[in-house]
Amino acid sequence: MLLDPGMDLTLRPMKYPHFFDRFKDAIKNTWTVEEVDLHSDLADLARLSDAEKHLVSRLVAFFATGDTIVANNLVLNLYQHVNSPEGRLYLSRQLFEEAVHVQFYLNLLDTYVPDLDERAAAFAAVDNIPSIARKAEFCFKWIDSVFELRRLETREHRRAFLLNVICFAACIEGLFFYGAFAYVYFLRSRGVLQGLASGTNWVFRDESMHMAFAFDVVDQVRAEEPDLFDAEMERQVRDMLAEAVECEVQFAGDLLEQGVSGLSLGDMREYLQHVADRRLAALGIDPIYGSKNPFAFMELQDVQELSNFFERRVSAYQMGVSGSVGFDEDF
Ligand SMILES: [Fe+2]
Ligand SMILES: [Fe+2]
Repeated sequence: MLLDPGMDLTLRPMKYPHFFDRFKDAIKNTWTVEEVDLHSDLADLARLSDAEKHLVSRLVAFFATGDTIVANNLVLNLYQHVNSPEGRLYLSRQLFEEAVHVQFYLNLLDTYVPDLDERAAAFAAVDNIPSIARKAEFCFKWIDSVFELRRLETREHRRAFLLNVICFAACIEGLFFYGAFAYVYFLRSRGVLQGLASGTNWVFRDESMHMAFAFDVVDQVRAEEPDLFDAEMERQVRDMLAEAVECEVQFAGDLLEQGVSGLSLGDMREYLQHVADRRLAALGIDPIYGSKNPFAFMELQDVQELSNFFERRVSAYQMGVSGSVGFDEDF
């Protein structure tokens, strides 16, 4: 079974070919940081209001460490316990993508924050900015919850690991990052920071696929060991999502503290609740909030992003893309 302890090395016969398909789909989405021109954003940054500048500075401070934390959990926990060589192929690819994201946000901060003291402060946000520190603590709590586990010997071990997988997919990649992307696409809808938005299109797509793979893992374990998914597990997942929403609403309160015209804290809260409900639905769990998506600019996102993807592939590389690309994430 997928969570049996050990290091299965046998690719043939392949036990989980859908994991291998995810790996091949991910390779079709290869991009590099050098393709994204952020310098076009500098003129926009100079003419933002003080409240918008505050939003952007908090946002980049979150991006400074977010993907590094996800990459650490991937290596320390996921790679260790997802016992499938084709699954580990996907995780290797995901680790590469997280590294590209780290490089992208490094480039973003170096470009957006020329002052060296301000830049150092942004990279230290997990220690110095309370709303970002709270999100980091949430992540570390769930990394630590399984960090000591070397082998998933018992039912409780497996449940603890599943909660870690669900946390990073649904709460961190699927909520903290989606929240961050919403600010980027809000700014794009106002005609500013198109460079950041174009890089975000790539990251967004990667994150959607990371989440889809993690949910595949959860579904696979559910098929193999349905008794792990009891009412207690469901309660823990709902509590976890609710705490993640609280963390992200606090962050939104910080970003929007000076009042950004066109983006209210109430709408942001509703959006985050809506996203959390979608994550619960993907896990077969009843919604908590029943909130609607108030952001039309996010509903358009998947369609625009997909067409950009094909255009870029064809125009930039003259490389045909055939078959499905596996974009099945929704909002
Ligand atoms: Fe990432
Ligand atoms: Fe990710």
